[in-house]
Amino acid sequence: MRPPLPRWIAHRGGGTLAPENTLAGIRLAASLGYKAVEFDVMLTADGTPVLIHDETLERTTNGGGSVCATPDSQLFVLDAGQGERIPRFVDAAALCIELGLLANVEIKPATGHDVATAEVVSRLTVDLWRGAAVQPLLSSFSLVALEVARDVAPEIRSGILFEAPPADWLAELRHLRAFSLHCDAKLLNDEVLAEAQAHDVPVLCYTVNSEKQAKMLFARGVSSLFTDRLDLFPG
Ligand code: G3P
Ligand code: MG
Repeated sequence: MRPPLPRWIAHRGGGTLAPENTLAGIRLAASLGYKAVEFDVMLTADGTPVLIHDETLERTTNGGGSVCATPDSQLFVLDAGQGERIPRFVDAAALCIELGLLANVEIKPATGHDVATAEVVSRLTVDLWRGAAVQPLLSSFSLVALEVARDVAPEIRSGILFEAPPADWLAELRHLRAFSLHCDAKLLNDEVLAEAQAHDVPVLCYTVNSEKQAKMLFARGVSSLFTDRLDLFPG
């Protein structure tokens, strides 16, 4: 029997308290008592999976251009905020295992790189977490990536990620053999929630940064919330 999901998940590593998608963010989440972190994983030009959200480097680093067109030799010298480097996925995985954190690994392919990204991340996820006490959760907005994850990493739980769940979300979840439904907290309607509850599908909502909204979502039966406000919510 697998343990239940933690109620709170630190979004992009350490939320807004640390540079996003960095090892410092992951460490901070653990130090604040968080039991779970979410981060985004994309491939560099050399095919190395790294933690980053945007397809381009400008917003979160002192570099520029596309992540998928940047070789490792140029990418790993960039400043991702406060002197942090863009982490390799393998290093983030090792840190989560060391800290006992549940990792929600969001496969975030650059446009057109869904299959390659999902293959690399899924294979590595199986290898890196083999035998670990706390197993990760893969997720993606890319249904193609989730099909690859289903086939390459059937032993790893996955979450199907939407902004607003479409009418056929449950059929998609079954097709992907996914475990959980992840969606924008503002776009979760009662019909979808009731259907999820009727089928024992945990619902996880992003990104919740207000106490009032969190209280309402938990009262409605949502399982877990992704937050940027690690200072506001107890881990
Ligand atoms: O996985 C939940 C959330 O991270 C999805 O949105 O854009 O922050 O990756 P985004
Ligand atoms: Mg994400």
